[in-house]
Amino acid sequence: MSIRTLDDLLVEGVSGRRVLVRADLNVPLDKQSGDISDDGRIRAVLPTLGALVEAGAKVVVCSHLGRPKGAPDPQFSLRPVAGRLGELLGVPVRFATDTVGESARSTVDALADGEVALLENLRFNKGETSKDDTERGAFADQLAAFGDAYVDDAFGAVHRKHASVHDVPARLPHVAGRLVLREVEVLSRLTGEPERPYVVVLGGSKVSDKLAVIEALLPTVDRLLIGGGMCFTFLKAQGHEVGSSLLEEDMVETCRNLLERSTGKIMLPVDVVAAEAFAPDAAHDTVAADAIPGNRVGLDIGPETVAGFAAALKGARTIFWNGPMGVFEMPAFAHGTRGIAETIAKSDAFTVVGGGDSAAAVRALGLDESSFGHISTGGGASLEYLEGKTLPGIAALEN
Ligand code: 3PG
Ligand code: MG
Repeated sequence: MSIRTLDDLLVEGVSGRRVLVRADLNVPLDKQSGDISDDGRIRAVLPTLGALVEAGAKVVVCSHLGRPKGAPDPQFSLRPVAGRLGELLGVPVRFATDTVGESARSTVDALADGEVALLENLRFNKGETSKDDTERGAFADQLAAFGDAYVDDAFGAVHRKHASVHDVPARLPHVAGRLVLREVEVLSRLTGEPERPYVVVLGGSKVSDKLAVIEALLPTVDRLLIGGGMCFTFLKAQGHEVGSSLLEEDMVETCRNLLERSTGKIMLPVDVVAAEAFAPDAAHDTVAADAIPGNRVGLDIGPETVAGFAAALKGARTIFWNGPMGVFEMPAFAHGTRGIAETIAKSDAFTVVGGGDSAAAVRALGLDESSFGHISTGGGASLEYLEGKTLPGIAALEN
């Protein structure tokens, strides 16, 4: 694998050159205020952007935000991100109100050396996510016209075969940015020969999203701890009733099969916090995982489970965690996620937190980010990397 890096580009010299940077600035926005609720992904791209600014490049940044449907949609505008990016970077960021139209052209043309522009949401254009190579290619042509070189620093989007990720690098000299390099370096430690014991903690709502990674990890890991909404489908597969908890009925058989093949590696909750409703103030109790009342919904793992998972994590040399253990956004159901996060933070193991949600949980719970070995900016991307899949954005950078 031969991937050129930002440092190679800097050695070549970028002063006065237009450098198109694909970033993943897909940050969560507060539903009421529209404010950026977690700017982790913006901060993660600063090393690359800062280096380019310092070297006197004309920096053109592009990104997606949310999932607009190929047309402008104000609720998904990157404008607030341009403001925050400018604050964090310490230089003003010019914002183009379209992606490849008149505003983008004039904004890019006006850039002086060491200045930064952010284009409007890539996904306001059909071509970005199109499955049609020609349509995607035509959009990639327009984007590529804004750069003399291309830097991919959008680790969170490398698993997408999208124009800005997959097709632009075919049109410009291309390199991997600092974030992409760091992410690949860390995740390859997990797929290579991780120091043992290697323990993985998986949560989040859907088994179906995690099935491929569970399959890929089972032969490799020493322990696989499962919490979050997805645990209920496994509990059901063990023959327990789960009340009105999240359940993927069509996955029960698959989970049963996984449990049979896992040779005891999979650990499930022994108790759960069961509530009368999915609401922050709902009445709730801790119940045994095999005795969830029919009218209750499980919203967190219980304290005995936290203790059991902590015991399984003790002595681990490598830990990967993806997905919250419960509805951590509601304080009453955040104890499981907090307990596991604190245990991982205290561990001496090489610890990797994967995924937008778990990374956001770490910050939302006020935990010290530096007590984790690495907090990935990629959710789907880190999982697909661990699955051993070819990632279109990485493949496009290889020569
Ligand atoms: C993410 O949030 O996982 C990345 O930004 C990719 O977004 P997507 O899942 O909408 O492609
Ligand atoms: Mg996603």
